[in-house]
Amino acid sequence: MRGRLFITLEGGEGAGKTTSLGLVREWLQQVGHEVVVTREPGGTELGERIRELLLHRQELAISTETEVLLMFAARAEHLARVIQPALAAGKTVLCDRFTDATYAYQGGGRGVSEARIAALESWVQGDLRPDLTLLLDVPVDLGRERAASARAPDRFEREPDRFFERVRATYLARAAREPGRIRVIDAGRKPEEVARAIAAILHEVVHAAG
Ligand SMILES: Nc1ncnc2c1ncn2[C@@H]1O[C@H](COP(=O)(O)OP(=O)(O)OP(=O)(O)O)[C@@H](O)[C@H]1O
Ligand SMILES: [Mg+2]
Repeated sequence: MRGRLFITLEGGEGAGKTTSLGLVREWLQQVGHEVVVTREPGGTELGERIRELLLHRQELAISTETEVLLMFAARAEHLARVIQPALAAGKTVLCDRFTDATYAYQGGGRGVSEARIAALESWVQGDLRPDLTLLLDVPVDLGRERAASARAPDRFEREPDRFFERVRATYLARAAREPGRIRVIDAGRKPEEVARAIAAILHEVVHAAG
């Protein structure tokens, strides 16, 4: 049984992460991986409650530092209870958003220093990092349009376009620094074309991993 890959999906609002998740799962299952699909913030009972606080309680004031710490608190739980056990059992973990999102939203978007996020990343994750990150990149207005037609707005959606421009720029800067791990996909294209691009990357990476 092949497995043990840790794959994350990243990108701004409405980029197509959740849509692509199903596709990636099917692709991996077809080549024999046992796949655990999960998401952040969330993925555990506690984590989903933290998600609810972070995304859907618009009436709650949450300071930026607290937001970062809650993200990592949910992540610590997620790693301990879901991600690490699955990887240890030889499964492949497919996660809708992970720590790159913290760098992009709380770092780029809200201005928390990269060093602070990196310190929490080391504390909570040790040296565990995703093997592959699929970064779905779309222009901010297109992503927001898609998200608006797909779901109710969350707490982040109150932010102006310039917030999401910083999020997007931070994601792309991270991809430029780590081109081997973070693969950028032009997700402004038709679903079939996005799907083809993802399949090509999976083919390359997963077969290389053996
Ligand atoms: N390539 C595409 N072209 C057109 N519409 C798309 C494409 N990909 C996804 N969509 C649609 O856009 C909407 C948002 O997609 P999806 O929920 O997958 O995005 P997401 O990145 O998970 O967004 P969120 O930030 O809300 O979690 C959905 O209605 C989906 O069907
Ligand atoms: Mg989604």
